[in-house]
Amino acid sequence: MAFIMITNESHGKAGTMTDNRDTDTILEELLADPRVQEMKRYKQHGRISTFEHCERVARLSCRIDRALHLHADPHTLVKGAMLHDFYLYDWHNEDGGDHDWHGYIHAERARKNACRYFGADERVQHVIYCHMWPLNLTRVPRTREAWIVCLADKYISIRETLLER
Ligand SMILES: [Fe+2]
Ligand SMILES: [Fe+2]
Repeated sequence: MAFIMITNESHGKAGTMTDNRDTDTILEELLADPRVQEMKRYKQHGRISTFEHCERVARLSCRIDRALHLHADPHTLVKGAMLHDFYLYDWHNEDGGDHDWHGYIHAERARKNACRYFGADERVQHVIYCHMWPLNLTRVPRTREAWIVCLADKYISIRETLLER
């Protein structure tokens, strides 16, 4: 698929500053969307909903970007982060009957939903598709936004799993 071939060289907006207003505006719009709100119905880790989890990953991704001066594209970073687990089911009791495979299949489900409901472009799709690396071993992040979200997701997931049961 084309979005797998994205490289840093194709980063058309490299050097674009990520300012607070841009990321906040994009995130607030997504948080208010009824399809994103649907993620409140599903548990992610412990007592944390998928909605809360994705919001945390999005906010941490923005903090990492600002702190390390990575100059990620605001749209790609925030949309990719907020929709990275937009698979829309409760993986504890219904992941298409394949509970054991949730870790391997949900990134692709989220990517398809992001395309279907939000017309996600290739760069946003790449962030979502690669966020489970290294579990999905061949889906190596190839953009700065995909790396930021992949690392932010690991940190938030471990915290939620260990501290918020
Ligand atoms: Fe995930
Ligand atoms: Fe996640």
